[in-house]
Order: sequence, then structure tokens, then C-alpha cells
Amino acid sequence: MKILTTVGEMQAACRSLRRAGTLGLVPTMGALHDGHLSLVRRAKAENDAVVVSIFVNPTQFAPGEDFETYPRRMAEDCAKLEAEGVAVLFAPSVEQMYPQGATTLVEVAEVGDRLDGASRPGHFRGVATVVAKLFHVVDPDRAYFGQKDAAQVAVLRTMVRDLLFRVELVVCPIVREPSGLAMSSRNLKLSATEKQRALALCRALRAAARALECGKTRAEPLRAAMLRQFSGAEDVRLDYAEVVHPATLLPVADTRDGALIAVAAWVGQTRLIDNLLVENGSAASAPAACQDAEKMEAMHA
Ligand code: PAJ
Repeated sequence: MKILTTVGEMQAACRSLRRAGTLGLVPTMGALHDGHLSLVRRAKAENDAVVVSIFVNPTQFAPGEDFETYPRRMAEDCAKLEAEGVAVLFAPSVEQMYPQGATTLVEVAEVGDRLDGASRPGHFRGVATVVAKLFHVVDPDRAYFGQKDAAQVAVLRTMVRDLLFRVELVVCPIVREPSGLAMSSRNLKLSATEKQRALALCRALRAAARALECGKTRAEPLRAAMLRQFSGAEDVRLDYAEVVHPATLLPVADTRDGALIAVAAWVGQTRLIDNLLVENGSAASAPAACQDAEKMEAMHA
């Protein structure tokens, strides 16, 4: 696996990979887990070559957010990507991605201001800007993103349409830990107690999925079922629990025509997100179980 750090080298390497066949891109911020690797595997299966980027993008973190403390695991990440047969890892510096004096930003209006965009103003401007740059550098045939970040997917789909990118976006299902917790690089920041508390998010989604199974299709009872899971949750602060249209991220009153059920919550100092998609009136992707880590360990002992 080649590890490249400059835009010029990366452009040249990608040009030659594209000449040889199709090229898949997996953009990441590193501290790779099985969720990221599921994207890499899908990209490997669907393309002749795969490139991965690792770049903790400062512009998608607001002042006071966790840019400095975001987990960085370069050596482990390289070993994982090497084992997956990745052709090139792009690991640029901030100066490479943001040339001195850079003032151009990509703003996806409206969609970019909803859900996480509402809680984290400017976040999706940073995401859209850096992903647009990566698309220019790599010019991939396909780019792989996780359903875990459902609002990010909606924003990037809008950007690809509006800015006429030729890339095909491929969205991969959420990979979970055995407990049901959605995998996230930020899980590395959770203590054992916090990891258990964090199960409130997938429990809320389970509760919504159960309500759907009972024939409740309207948004309000689904939201109420989710909110109940947070009412007694210790040291968990709900940010949002919403039922929205998966593309516009606007609230929907009923899920019968499809919906995205999304939650975000603070567990201690760490903000986590999770979601499930409703298709044809039922949960297309509900977490199978949200079990307490201790119970899980006891089961495996
Ligand atoms: P990061 O959080 O590192 O995630 C990289 C990709 O992995 C994203 O598309 C994300 O949705 C996906 N992913 C994360 N956890 C997942 C899980 N449990 N199951 C499936 N996919 C998962 O998202 C970003 O980085 C950044 O915003 C980025 C797009 C790289 C721009 O900086």
C-alpha cells in the first residue's frame, strides 16, 4: 500500500489507477473500526482499485468541539488497510488540503442546516468542502459512505447533484458492536460505564421499531417511544430524536412513505448519533438487540 501525503502525488497516483480500471474512494477521519472496513470491503468488491483517505478535517469541528481530542491511530490504521488490500492511503496535512489563504467553502443550504447541521452550525459546510476537495483530487468512480451518518449522506447527495460531480455515492449499512451500539471512532472516548449508558440510543431506535411493528406509523408515537428511553437515562443528554424525510431531512408526520428515524445524544462529553430507515412501513435496519455490556460478557464467558 502506498501512503501519499501530497495532493500532487495523490492526483498522479489516482490518474494511473483510473487508467487501469474503476476507482473507489473511502473518505475517513481514521481510528478505523469495522464500520469503516465494511466500506473498504464493499469498495474492493465493486472496483478495480480502492483508495482510502484519513484526514481529521478541522473545518467540520466548531471551536470548542473535539478536534484536538479526536482519536488518532495512524499506525494501527495503516496495518488494517494494508490487510484489506487498499492500493493507496491518502493522509494529507491540513496545509495540503487548505492552501494558505484558502477562503472557498461549499455550503449545502437547507439540508445542511438540519439535524446535526442544526446542532453543529457549520459542520456540514466543513464536510462538504473537504469531500468536494477529495473528489477533485481522486476523481473516483464510486465513493463509499456509511448510513450511520445519515444526515451527512443527505448533504453529500445534494452536493453531488448540485455541483455536477460524476461520482456515484454508495451508502453502506450501519455496523454495530455486539451490544447493539453503532460503531464510531468516538466510542474510543467512552468509559465502560458510558458505553453502557450509550445503549440508550439504540434502545430508542428499538423502541421506535417495536412501535412500527405494532402498526404505529405516525411520527408522534414513534418519537414518544424514543423519548421514553431517554427519560431515565443517567448522564445521557438527548440532542434530537426526529422522524424525517431521508433526503430533505424535514420532519414527516407519517412514516408510510418512508422515513429516517434519527437520534443524537451526549453521553458525558461525547456526542453520539444513530438512526434507522423505515421502508415500506417497517424498520429496514433496526438494531437487533441493545444489550448491556455486562450481560453480553456474561453470555460469552
Ligand atoms: P468518519 O467518522 O471517520 O467516517 C468515515 C465513514 O465511515 C463515513 O461515511 C461514516 O458514515 C462511515 N461509518 C462510520 N461508522 C460507521 C458504522 N458503524 N457503520 C457503517 N459506516 C460507518 O464521516 C466522516 O468520517 C467525515 O465526516 C468525512 C466524510 C471523512 C469527511 O471528513
